[in-house]
Amino acid sequence: MYWEKELELLERKDLEHLQVERLNKTLRQAGNSPCYGQMPEISRFIRSGMTSIEQIRELPFTAKEDLRRDFPWGFLATDKKDVVRLHSSSGTTGNPVAVYHNRHDLNSWANLMARSLFTAGVRDTDVFQNICGYGLFTGGLGFQYGVEKLGCLSIPAGAGNSPRQIKLMRDFGTTVAHAIPSYLGRLFDVFREEGLDPRKDTQLHTLVIGAEPHTEEHRRRIEEMFGVKAYNSFGLSEMNGPGVAFECIEQNGLHVWEDAYVLEVIDPVTLQPVADGEVGELVMTTLDRQAMPVIRYRTRDLTRILPGPCPCGRTHRRIDRISGRSDDMFIIKGCNVFPMQIEGVLMKLPEVGDDYRITLETIDDQDEMIIEVEVKKEWFKGDLAFLDKLQRHITHLIRDEVLVRPRIKLVEPSSIPKAEGKAVRVHDHRQKG
Ligand code: COA
Ligand code: AMP
Ligand code: ZN
Repeated sequence: MYWEKELELLERKDLEHLQVERLNKTLRQAGNSPCYGQMPEISRFIRSGMTSIEQIRELPFTAKEDLRRDFPWGFLATDKKDVVRLHSSSGTTGNPVAVYHNRHDLNSWANLMARSLFTAGVRDTDVFQNICGYGLFTGGLGFQYGVEKLGCLSIPAGAGNSPRQIKLMRDFGTTVAHAIPSYLGRLFDVFREEGLDPRKDTQLHTLVIGAEPHTEEHRRRIEEMFGVKAYNSFGLSEMNGPGVAFECIEQNGLHVWEDAYVLEVIDPVTLQPVADGEVGELVMTTLDRQAMPVIRYRTRDLTRILPGPCPCGRTHRRIDRISGRSDDMFIIKGCNVFPMQIEGVLMKLPEVGDDYRITLETIDDQDEMIIEVEVKKEWFKGDLAFLDKLQRHITHLIRDEVLVRPRIKLVEPSSIPKAEGKAVRVHDHRQKG
């Protein structure tokens, strides 16, 4: 059963033909933006046209820094009056990355989301609870419009307030929910605190999990706890958000929707393509976006193309679950964080000394970010009330910057052990599965 049979089962050569056609259109559209419009490689292909998808390798990459540098309008490829929404990803200092959508873009994104959910077995008879941040996070509205297009009864629950999530599930008979994997342990605990068992006391049959790295073991544990099938959903704001790659019911990797994206996996050092099956950095190009096409975007996510066909019959290639990053970004509670954001906040404070250490831990089934901050000698001697105030001030500033409340521990100068060589800022001790 397919959402768009002709597209999902398209023969590879026809799929590649469609990609070339859409890529040429995308380049012409991108040429309208101030940034892409001045790139000679893009102008060249607008004039001559691409004839094979491999020619994409002759185009320059786009990095997060490029999108931020030419903020806010540098990559806008349409008239501002046609833009109907923007999203912005977490995890940047200074200028965020803003991604613009016109009506066509939102329609095709909703369609990709509906297709993705259908692929994972969700149907219009389902009751779908979206336990995800709305607002600028793409997992909120991104899922919302897809679920509505599919025709489920949607519950836009948003993040947080676990007892209320459980009540919603039970009141309205939720059968499918979307949440980030690390939150589901906390939700399960609250079920137990309330004397409930999600296996018996809900009608859940499917969970959609994504937005952060997780292992196969973690997935199996979630399936066991909730008595469901859990499907991996991958996406990023620069490529819309969710709906880029999704698992089918075979649960053997995520199909990348190749009618909407060109998929490449490169060696992050040589920037050359790696062979199928080899791990590298995922690079993606939009094929069906008008307001803001993005060409050869370096996602920094590490994965590999899984060779061979999928028994479900879809011809769109599959990638493995994301195994890490080629930069130092980490994700906590569904929010992207770069250590430099934290350093940026700390180093502006005169009381803060030279060193700090970020530890990620799972405490009572919730992931927490603990930041030890060295305080300069003259301030560390200060009275307790002063240190208490400083601690609250730092907590507040960091929460504003990264959207997650840190646990701040103020420590004596030089008490954080120095690493040999390059400082290791982040120590990740979270339980993974
Ligand atoms: N999704 C849903 N709920 C979450 C969550 C997540 N990722 N992380 C934490 N929560 C819940 C907590 O369990 C708590 O509710 P409870 O006490 O009733 O169980 C509540 O949110 C607040 O948690 P707290 O630990 O105090 O978080 P915080 O002050 O650091 O703020 C959030 C954290 C949840 C508000 C913020 O991290 C957020 O909005 N995360 C969602 C991000 C998201 O949806 N990303 C997907 C992008 S596609
Ligand atoms: P954002 O742009 O805020 O939506 O964040 C996108 C990033 O979240 C991606 O680049 C990945 O690093 C991460 N991400 C999203 N989905 C998954 C997933 N299913 N598995 C692992 N990481 C994911
Ligand atoms: Zn499949």
